[in-house]
Amino acid sequence: MSLQNVHLLSVSHNKSSVKRIDTLALSLQTEGMTNPPSNVLVLGGTGKTGSRVAAKLTTLGLNVRTAARNGAAVRFDWDDPSTHGPALEDVNRVYLVAPVLRTHFADQVSSFLDLAEAAGVRHVTYVSAFGIDQVPPQFVAHRAVELDLIARGAITHSILRPAWFMQNFSETFLRPVDGVITVPTGDGAEAFVDAEDIAAVAAATLASPGPHAGAEYAPTGAQALTVSDAADIIADVIGCPVKHDDLDRDTWIDGSVAAGVPAEYGEVLRMLTETIASGHGSRPNNDVQSVTGVPPISFADFARRTAQAWA
Ligand SMILES: NC(=O)c1ccc[n+]([C@@H]2O[C@H](COP(=O)([O-])OP(=O)(O)OC[C@H]3O[C@@H](n4cnc5c(N)ncnc54)[C@H](OP(=O)(O)O)[C@@H]3O)[C@@H](O)[C@H]2O)c1
Repeated sequence: MSLQNVHLLSVSHNKSSVKRIDTLALSLQTEGMTNPPSNVLVLGGTGKTGSRVAAKLTTLGLNVRTAARNGAAVRFDWDDPSTHGPALEDVNRVYLVAPVLRTHFADQVSSFLDLAEAAGVRHVTYVSAFGIDQVPPQFVAHRAVELDLIARGAITHSILRPAWFMQNFSETFLRPVDGVITVPTGDGAEAFVDAEDIAAVAAATLASPGPHAGAEYAPTGAQALTVSDAADIIADVIGCPVKHDDLDRDTWIDGSVAAGVPAEYGEVLRMLTETIASGHGSRPNNDVQSVTGVPPISFADFARRTAQAWA
């Protein structure tokens, strides 16, 4: 039974997350009658999406192995290939998070995929980024990895190209500091997406790869918001003023590099913020709802759920 068909028959917006788990579990039961249990390796397993993907797959009853350099079930370091084989033992599906804050990682990921294929992995869900299908692979490693996956015969793939994560406002570089969110995005808007929704889409593809083989999804939120809009929503929730500072881009990049962002990644930050500032940020689409059966989480709901992070 196809997951999407189940959703079409039974989606209810009340108790939606329970319904989502129920439909996935039903699909897994059906699959478990004919196939051995699935073991999923979740790279970046302690990160914003990987931790949530792991939690959702565990709830669904899959065997999950989180991987990272620290704090995961298995030690995995992109720069230490001796850690790759043990992480892949008895694994047949992988949630792939490429090396973060880097620009040249396509060859490293390709070698890992060779190993994964030889070890018996048959499906990979890759977290890329919004709009990456529009850029040349020689300039952007995410696109090179996408094309590598698409060309593989023994591994099916699902590619996720999410918008900017809402969790950037609570866990990383968009966190307000003294009531100010500093980022050069001007008046441009972005359809910020909750990492919970990205993880829900990823979990659906990993729990039931068949219907999602070859699929490309671009998870977004339901609204395109400026950073100033997002600041207003956070301010309402926490009851304190929060403002957007649209700092000069070079000054912001220099500051980010001084704070520890690798210099090569500074140019990625330039491209990402220019895209939004020029009015070419992501816009809402239907991908989260079409895969999970429920609408994407709103920024206001994210902010209410996350208020403690800004206490
Ligand atoms: N943030 C956004 O708005 C956004 C939007 C679209 C796409 N993306 C894409 O999403 C991906 C990041 O996913 P995420 O936000 O879920 O991750 P994340 O929160 O940045 O966490 C990174 C994860 O990778 C692990 N890691 C870091 N360096 C590693 C290394 N050298 N070897 C092995 N593991 C390593 C980390 O754990 P350890 O440090 O312990 O190893 C952690 O588990 C990136 O590819 C990014 O381009 C992000």
